[in-house]
Parts: sequence; C-alpha cells; structure tokens
Amino acid sequence: MNAEGFASIAALVKARSGIVLTPDKEYMLDTRLAPLMKQAGIPNLDALALKLRDPRADALARDVTEALTTNESSFFRDGKPFDHLKRLLPPLMAKRPPGHRLRIWSAACSTGQEAYSVAMILQELGIKNAEILGTDLSREVVERARDGVFTQFEVQRGLPVQMLVKHFRQERGKWRVGPSLREMVRFEERNLLGDHRALGKFDVVFCRNVLIYFDPQTKGRVLNALAAQMAPDGVMYLGGAETVLGLTDRLAPVSGERGAYALAAAGQARMAG
Ligand SMILES: C[S@@+](CC[C@H](N)C(=O)[O-])C[C@H]1O[C@@H](n2cnc3c(N)ncnc32)[C@H](O)[C@@H]1O
Repeated sequence: MNAEGFASIAALVKARSGIVLTPDKEYMLDTRLAPLMKQAGIPNLDALALKLRDPRADALARDVTEALTTNESSFFRDGKPFDHLKRLLPPLMAKRPPGHRLRIWSAACSTGQEAYSVAMILQELGIKNAEILGTDLSREVVERARDGVFTQFEVQRGLPVQMLVKHFRQERGKWRVGPSLREMVRFEERNLLGDHRALGKFDVVFCRNVLIYFDPQTKGRVLNALAAQMAPDGVMYLGGAETVLGLTDRLAPVSGERGAYALAAAGQARMAG
C-alpha cells in the first residue's frame, strides 16, 4: 500500500480509538482487514483508504477501527492485581457507610474475563451489594462478554479448576458463566476517549493492557479522565507494562504493589480546585 494510504488509515484509527499504528504494523492491516474488505468488495488497502475519506463511510470506519483492536485477555490475568484486590476490599468496605454499593469498572474489558474474575473475588469475600461495569470500544467483544460463554482454551488460561466448576456450566462443549456471577456484571460499549462523568464514581478501576497502544498524550488524557471517576480512596490497576509516571500527577503508585495506583494528594487538590 502507498505511504499516504497507510497514514490516512492510521490517522483515522488514532482519532477514533487512540490506537497508534506505526508503519511496521502494515502487515497487521493486511491480515486484520482482509475479511472486512472481502465482504465490502474493496480490492485492496489503497482503495479502502480512499473509501474512508468519504465522511459518509462512518460504519466502515468503525468496523476498520474495531478490527484493529487487540482483544487478548484471560481470567485472573497477571494474578497480582487480584491478590491486591482481595486484601484491599475488606478494609475499604469497612470504611464505607452501611448499605454502600461497591462499584468496580473494568475499562477496556475485552471479552469480559477481567470483570468475571472480579465477580468471583467478590463472591469469595461475600460482598453481595456490588456492581461491576465492563466497557470496551469494540461491539463484538462487548457482545461476547455479555454472552458469558468461553471456550475450553479460554477457561484453561488462568481459571483455577475449582472456580470453573463452581461458577460455570458446561454448554455444548463450552463454558457458560453461572447466573450468580452474571447478575453482578453489566457490559456496555464505551470509548476510553469519551466523557465518563455520567458513570459516577467507582471504588476500583481496572484499565489494563490498553494504554500500551496509545501515545503519551492520549495515555495522560485517559488516565486523568479515569482518575476523575475514582472515589478519593479508590484504586486503579494498570497492566504490567503500563505506568502513570510522566503522564499524570493525579495518580501515584501504591507503595509495594506493582500495577496499583491511588489518587495522588496533588492530583486530588487539583481536581477539587
Ligand atoms: C488487550 S485488551 C485488554 C483486555 C483486559 N483489560 C485485559 O487486560 O485482559 C485491550 C482492549 O482495549 C480495547 N480498546 C482499545 N482502544 C479502546 C478505546 N479507545 N476505548 C475502549 N476500549 C478500547 C480493545 O477493544 C481491547 O478489547
């Protein structure tokens, strides 16, 4: 494909999702967009780039963006944040007024394994008055998350067998999340670049393995927007390769807990002012 075509698709994807596509990712465009181009009768990437210049091609632009998201996820991914959550919640709940509804946001939740992992922890801790919200840009993964059906391969990645047997039911060779977990979790489409104020405050926010696809400016903007939705003593979890350092002053690492961040005193003052 020509450099101009690549640059225009990359600019469109960045504007719609924050995802940065560097020229070495051209192979990805070929493999990820081939099915969509075949279906739409578009012969090659240059023709696709040309078509996307038409402001009426909004549905196509959305499909292209979603096809270029990476949706890798697994249950209890990276372990540590979930161990921390187990230790965090009892004292946090003790500080909340009676009847407080615990709110946890799995932002960029992909197919839902993170949100369901959190639901299993809440059940283990006996926390019933809780709401877990899973959100993602991609319609396809949000539908899959809502459906709550996972393959044998997916449940074998990170889900202890006792938990599988306890919380899932076998269904036509796959595993369906049981009703008690399912009713704790709600999924909706949501772009991290959007305005999240209507969501209200969360006690805990997971935003893992998505900032890696953004440039520093977008990372900072998203971190600030998510920090603004956190309770003053809330915690945010990022992926192992992600950090807040140099990106925002609203969040600071929780000492000794890799991947966990709390609102920084400076940031809290700035948000209040
Ligand atoms: C690698 S997955 C991470 C899933 C999960 N958080 C985890 O760590 O296992 C990244 C997800 O981010 C989503 N994503 C990318 N850009 C996004 C955006 N601007 N808004 C919301 N979700 C986005 C993708 O659709 C994808 O499902």
